[in-house]
Amino acid sequence: MIDVKKIRKDFLVYDKYKDLCYLDSAASALKLNSVNESIYNYMAYNGTNVHRGVYKLSYEATNMYEETRDVVANFINAKSDEIVFTRGASDALNLVALSYGFNFLNEGDEIISSELEHHSSQMPWLNVALKKNCKIKYIPLENNQITVENFQKVLTNKTKVVALTHVSNVLGYVTPIKEIIKLAHNVGAIVIVDAAQSIPHMPVDVKDLDCDFLAFSGHKIMGPTGVGVLYGKYKLLEMLPPVEFGGDMAEDVYTTHMSYKDAPYKFETGTPMIAEVIALKDAIKYLQNIGLNNVYEHEKHLKDLAIAELKKLDDVEIYNSDSPTGIISFNIKGCHPHDAASVYDKNNVCLRAGHHCAELVMHHLNVVGTLRASFYIYNDEEDVKRFIDSTKEACDFFRMFRED
Ligand code: ALA
Repeated sequence: MIDVKKIRKDFLVYDKYKDLCYLDSAASALKLNSVNESIYNYMAYNGTNVHRGVYKLSYEATNMYEETRDVVANFINAKSDEIVFTRGASDALNLVALSYGFNFLNEGDEIISSELEHHSSQMPWLNVALKKNCKIKYIPLENNQITVENFQKVLTNKTKVVALTHVSNVLGYVTPIKEIIKLAHNVGAIVIVDAAQSIPHMPVDVKDLDCDFLAFSGHKIMGPTGVGVLYGKYKLLEMLPPVEFGGDMAEDVYTTHMSYKDAPYKFETGTPMIAEVIALKDAIKYLQNIGLNNVYEHEKHLKDLAIAELKKLDDVEIYNSDSPTGIISFNIKGCHPHDAASVYDKNNVCLRAGHHCAELVMHHLNVVGTLRASFYIYNDEEDVKRFIDSTKEACDFFRMFRED
C-alpha cells in the first residue's frame, strides 16, 4: 500500500502549492527532495570534475558518479559496464541509431517500428532508413495495440532492427516485448526498447527481457532532468563505435589516428552531467524502497477509478479505457484539447494536451491531439475526484459551443 500523505512530504512542491493536482507525470515526474539535496550537495560541497582529478575531492566526485552506475545496473539487472549515461532517453535512442544504424545497416535491410512510438523512438530510425535506403515497416495495430501476431506479419529474414516502445506514452498499453524480442532474435535482429514510460511504473529486468538496448530518462522517475540511461549488452556496446569524440572518452590521440576507452566510457564524451548522475541514484533508491509492483498497483487503481467515472460522461471519448497502466488519453467531444486544458488549469489540475510527441498515434486515432492524465505515486483518490469534476465542468462549458 502506498501512503500518499507520507510520500507528499518528500516533495517540496506540495508545500508551496497546497492545491496542486499534478496529473502530468508521463511528461515529467515531480522532483524528490532527496534528489534536489543531492544535486545541491555536490554543487555546493564538491563541484569538481570526474575521472580526471588527481586529488581527493575529484576522487570523491568520481566515486559518487560511478556509484550511480552500480545502482542503475542493480535496478534493471544489468552489469555496471553495460550502463551508459546520456542526456536523456531521446539521447540514448539517438545514440544507438547513429552508431548501429549508420555503421551496420545496409541498403534493403529492414527496420521495424510502430505507430505507437514516441518521436524519439521512431524518428532516429526513420532518419537511418531514409539515409541508408533501408525499409522501415510499421506493425499494424490491433485495437490501438501492438500484438505478437501482427509483429510476425512484418518480421522477415531481412529485419535487422526492431525499435519499440515498452509502454505507449499516449495510450499506456504494454508491448508484449519479451515475446517480440525472442522472435526478432530468431532472425538475427537486435531490439531497442524505449522504456521511458515503463521504468517509472513497473519492474523491468533487462536480462529477463533479453533486450539488446534499453533507454530511459531520469526526470520521469522523480530524478534530475538532463540525465538518462542507455543499457546495452556489453558485446554490442563493445562493437558500437562512438558518435561523439572529445574529452574523457579518448585513450591515445595522434595527428593521424586515435583510440578511445572501452564501453561505457567511450560513449560519455566531455564533462558529463555530474550532479544529475549523482542524484539519479536517490530517485532509484526511493522507487526501490517503495517497490515497483506497489507503484504499478497504485496507479492502476487510480486509473480504474477515473475510467469508471469518465465512462459515465457522454461527451467524453476515451481512447484507452482498457490499458493496464496509469495513463488516460481522451477528448471532450467537439472541443480542441488545448481549449479543454484551460478549464483544468483554472482548477490547478495539471494535465497534458496535444500530440504528446507522438504524431503517429494521433494520425492513427484520427485526432489533432488528446488530453492526457497520468498518475504517479503522489496522486490519490482526491486527485481523481478533482480530475473528474474538472472534466464535468469542461463538458458542461463546451457543450454550449457544440453545433451538433
Ligand atoms: N515524452 C513526454 C510525454 O509523453 C514528454 O509527455
